[in-house]
Amino acid sequence: MMRWHLPDVAATDAVGNVLADTQPDRAIVFLHGDLGAGKSTLARAWLRALGVTGAIRSPTYTLVEHYPLGERGMALHLDLYRIAAPGELEFLALDDADVRLWLVEWPDRGGDALPKADLDVWLELDDDGRDIRLLAGSPTGQEWLDRIGQSPVCSAFLRPNDRKVPQPSDK
Ligand SMILES: Nc1ncnc2c1ncn2[C@@H]1O[C@H](COP(=O)(O)OP(=O)(O)OP(=O)(O)O)[C@@H](O)[C@H]1O
Ligand SMILES: [Mg+2]
Repeated sequence: MMRWHLPDVAATDAVGNVLADTQPDRAIVFLHGDLGAGKSTLARAWLRALGVTGAIRSPTYTLVEHYPLGERGMALHLDLYRIAAPGELEFLALDDADVRLWLVEWPDRGGDALPKADLDVWLELDDDGRDIRLLAGSPTGQEWLDRIGQSPVCSAFLRPNDRKVPQPSDK
């Protein structure tokens, strides 16, 4: 497990860059967290880092957006908040062999219709910023976490969030 405090959107973007740089050839990522926790912000930074230049819209109503990654296949960004039943996923024709990255917001609503995650990302409000936790869901995900741990960006830029920062009101 890795955990950091993200004081602002720039820090979220930095994590998105690291995740894009270190991800395996085929990665299934679940993005957990309440409304406004920063899931789409992270997904957008990640897709940009993979070279997506056009508009990156939240798949709030479409459930899924597809992004070509050139010769590296494609990425899928899902937001299942408004899915009526997991069975709806079958109609989206998602299990394409070309898919290199799945970014899934509100994955619990997909039930068993989703593949198993390599990485679970948990976001929550933390002061004015966000708290982020990364958990491996597969051996591939564990190797990935090891790579992330070696990233200089993580040690130089991100502040570990082992414990909650004391609040002025705690004094
Ligand atoms: N590290 C951060 N610090 C401060 N604000 C942030 C951070 N990351 C994201 N935000 C802000 O949080 C707001 C909501 O972000 P976002 O839309 O990514 O949430 P979400 O988790 O995708 O929500 P939803 O479940 O509704 O899709 C945005 O205004 C964004 O700028
Ligand atoms: Mg979102």
